[in-house]
Amino acid sequence: MLTKNMEEALNKQVNAELYSAYLYLSMAAYFESVDLKGCATWMYAQTQEEMVHAMKIYEYINERGGRAIMDAIDAPKNEWGSALEVFEHAYQHEQYVTSLINDLMDLSISEKDHATRIFLQWFVTEQVEEEASASGVVERLKLAGESTGGLFMVDKELGQRQLPIPLPQKK
Ligand SMILES: [Fe+2]
Ligand SMILES: [Fe+2]
Repeated sequence: MLTKNMEEALNKQVNAELYSAYLYLSMAAYFESVDLKGCATWMYAQTQEEMVHAMKIYEYINERGGRAIMDAIDAPKNEWGSALEVFEHAYQHEQYVTSLINDLMDLSISEKDHATRIFLQWFVTEQVEEEASASGVVERLKLAGESTGGLFMVDKELGQRQLPIPLPQKK
């Protein structure tokens, strides 16, 4: 059984993961609007991953006898000035999510909830990867600088990312 504190905090994290999915979908829509299809594909994959994160926590709450509550999801930003600006935002957002995971970890320790602490370890490791992949794209975009050719190369590379769930085929 989860403590009330832990249950509420995990529910907040479900909401934060759904917000992340929503933010990345908004970034994908921005990239579609500026014809950077590869960047959009990368963001679709990111959106789907965030949905998986939300579901992992949702299932864990149920498994531990808690009740998952769906709260309102904040509206994300939907305009950016450049691809670099978008990925800088994504990197900043992942650093914020890392701080949320660390706070959850601290709570599991203070609540002496060892099962939740072990459950959260996966997210601690995942955040290392999440920060590294977003900051990696920021670095590549900085190298591309003002060059259109460079930007298209990065876009092409990001378009290689596999989508866990294929998008519906366009007619
Ligand atoms: Fe996540
Ligand atoms: Fe993430």
